[in-house]
Amino acid sequence: MKEPVGHDGDRFVKELPERFNELGSFIREQRSSARLSLRRLSELAGISNPDASPIVAIGQAFIDATPEWLKSFAIRTFGSHDKAALLVAILLGVKAYTAFKASTDQWTDWHERLIENYLPFTVLVFVAVAIGGSVQIIPTLLVNREKNIEGRLQEIYTPLELAGRDLFVSEGCYNCHSQMIRTLVPDVMRYGRAGIADDYSHLGESLFDHPYQWGSKRTGPDLAREGGTLAKDAKGANYKYMRVGKRGNDWHFNHFLNPRAPSPGSNMPAFPWLIDQETDVKALPNKIAVQARLGVPWPALSQDQITDMVETQSQEIANSLVAAKVYLPAKPELQGDALRNHLAKSQVVAVIAYLQKLGTYREIKKDHPAEPSTLDPDSHRKPATVK
Ligand code: HEC
Repeated sequence: MKEPVGHDGDRFVKELPERFNELGSFIREQRSSARLSLRRLSELAGISNPDASPIVAIGQAFIDATPEWLKSFAIRTFGSHDKAALLVAILLGVKAYTAFKASTDQWTDWHERLIENYLPFTVLVFVAVAIGGSVQIIPTLLVNREKNIEGRLQEIYTPLELAGRDLFVSEGCYNCHSQMIRTLVPDVMRYGRAGIADDYSHLGESLFDHPYQWGSKRTGPDLAREGGTLAKDAKGANYKYMRVGKRGNDWHFNHFLNPRAPSPGSNMPAFPWLIDQETDVKALPNKIAVQARLGVPWPALSQDQITDMVETQSQEIANSLVAAKVYLPAKPELQGDALRNHLAKSQVVAVIAYLQKLGTYREIKKDHPAEPSTLDPDSHRKPATVK
């Protein structure tokens, strides 16, 4: 080609007529032998009378539909020997198809033998999953830890809150409540806190939840922001463990007793047995050991320390309930200290402790502030700030 051309694609298109001419002379060389073997080809293709064959009729229709420039190229190359050209094309097509079929048959045979033999199949599946898994999981765990918790690290539950978490699971609360504000704008607007930028659920907020309570079913509202900070007593000092979040403890208590009392029209079922049944405190040391084994950084706690922590926190919550003048419809005679001691042992206090802890985290400052990067679509986001 004479004129300079921009890139290879252009050149390929510009050189196309030349390529066609090269192809033409190649075919012309083959033409004499093709003409000689026309009879042989017809026999091969099973055509005794080429003029009457349906293949030839289809070929004719094909030729009619061919654009003029291609037709004239063909005529220049093959002259009037169009039937020879058609047969060469058909035979090349058949040859290509059989070659393709043979190789896929081979592959299919191999694949079928593989899925019939469970051992090699299992081994190969394991290898494939192991490669895929490690490519995804290892970088998440090792390389990008700081970035993956997204600046927030979940507060570890207290023993009582852990007991409440297990009640949340065993009562099936997750069937109606998610604990994950998705990054979608409507989700953040609906469940995120006012004044906090990008208040969706960051990964680090549930890092220590085993199992996660993210969920996808929302018959009731998302609970990721239900919890809150440590509550203050009348003198303004922090309680040791008791927190208060979006709702007061007494609201939760009355809500479990009869959801329609504080929340008219609610279709949440009542959970009155939470008030009668006792929290299984004896199981807690083992549960905590399991959590520690799963990687949750629990401090080393003796059985007595665990019992003490449960006692302190459940008394704090029970006290607040008595102060708010809750009463048990089934046992209205229980009052004052008797009521407080009854409530402190009950499951409802454990579940309330858990709900008031939901979504609490501490902010983790990054060592190196993220540079905006074209490879990271989130890098333009401002870090969340608490007002
Ligand atoms: C059948 C579905 C369903 C189940 C099961 C259920 N809830 Fe609900 N929950 C709802 C609905 C609907 C609402 C919203 C109306 C209301 O406030 O009662 C709600 C509201 C709540 C709220 C108030 C949220 C807020 O701040 O507005 C809390 C807390 C809650 N549920 C906790 C629980 C707990 C804990 C359990 C398990 C012991 C549970 N729910 C089981 C449907 C359910």
